[in-house]
Amino acid sequence: MALTTTLGLDMKHRFSFALTVAALAATAAVSAQAAADEVTVYTTREPALIQPLLAAFTAQSKIKVNTVFVKDGLLERVKAEGERSPADVLMTVDAGNLLDLVEGGVTQPVKSAVLESAIPANLRGADGSWYTLSMRARVLYAEKNLPLKSFRYEDLADPKWKGKVCIRAGQHPYNTALVAAMIAHDGEAKTEQWLRGVKNNLARKATGGDRDVARDILGGICDIGLANTYYVGHMKASKEGTDARKWGDAIKVIKPTFANEKSGGTHVNISGASVAKNAPQRANAVKLLEFLVSEPAQNMYAQANYEHPVRKGVALDPVVAQSIGELKIDPLPLTEIAKHRKQASALVDKVGFDR
Ligand SMILES: [Fe+2]
Repeated sequence: MALTTTLGLDMKHRFSFALTVAALAATAAVSAQAAADEVTVYTTREPALIQPLLAAFTAQSKIKVNTVFVKDGLLERVKAEGERSPADVLMTVDAGNLLDLVEGGVTQPVKSAVLESAIPANLRGADGSWYTLSMRARVLYAEKNLPLKSFRYEDLADPKWKGKVCIRAGQHPYNTALVAAMIAHDGEAKTEQWLRGVKNNLARKATGGDRDVARDILGGICDIGLANTYYVGHMKASKEGTDARKWGDAIKVIKPTFANEKSGGTHVNISGASVAKNAPQRANAVKLLEFLVSEPAQNMYAQANYEHPVRKGVALDPVVAQSIGELKIDPLPLTEIAKHRKQASALVDKVGFDR
């Protein structure tokens, strides 16, 4: 009797143990299944822009996208998370920010024929550690009636523009990237001289945002300035009667080039992405990147944010096509520009550009 009871208890115990194991196995299977259908993106990009793209990816692939918006300190965060980081894809604006992640050791190279054929070689890491997803050029906004046909970045320091130039802070990444490109083309000494010249031509303190260049051209404060292309689309496509539309209508765009004749192109910056070093879902990360350079996704970049698609043959937004057109890109590799960023920032300080 006692034996039976013991046996009975033992049986019961075994049974419940088996149940627990089965339940655990089932749970594990479910979460493995869920994880296999997910991808986690850490991004510094504006939520409003990126969400429609990610939703389109999910609709097509059935892979759920977890999005973590990281305004500042993306590198530090991923570093701190280490091997346990859930991040699969790291997405940024500005080539420098992206290359910081690569140099910081939180990315991994991935090979993909789809990515390689969609993205020109100078706009991705040779080893596949980073990829451009969209482009924006740093162009001249000019008062719409100015008789200007062409412009070199170097011309911004010409004394004939004294008191006529508006620009945001020299230390903003959009400007340090341009100054870094100038260092790569013209050398540090000439770039310092150029920065002093531009500083002397400023109509107001180097501050505010890119749209403020158009606002201040309308306000008669300045005649010309440097700013990014996509703001032109945003302003010129705004509802008639709004401030943004008035600012947009006050300007025309000229695509500057560098004096260095070997260049012949306009300074471009990018939005881009890398696969995270410890990506739990590496395959899904690659799938997402491949989707982002596909024609439908590149169309969304062009239409929703007025950027220039990285993929050839994708149409520009009509407003962008009319006011800016296709880009002839400065062939200087983005990695070369990134190398001179610290030097550029030091020069901006040295000449007191933002004071
Ligand atoms: Fe911007």
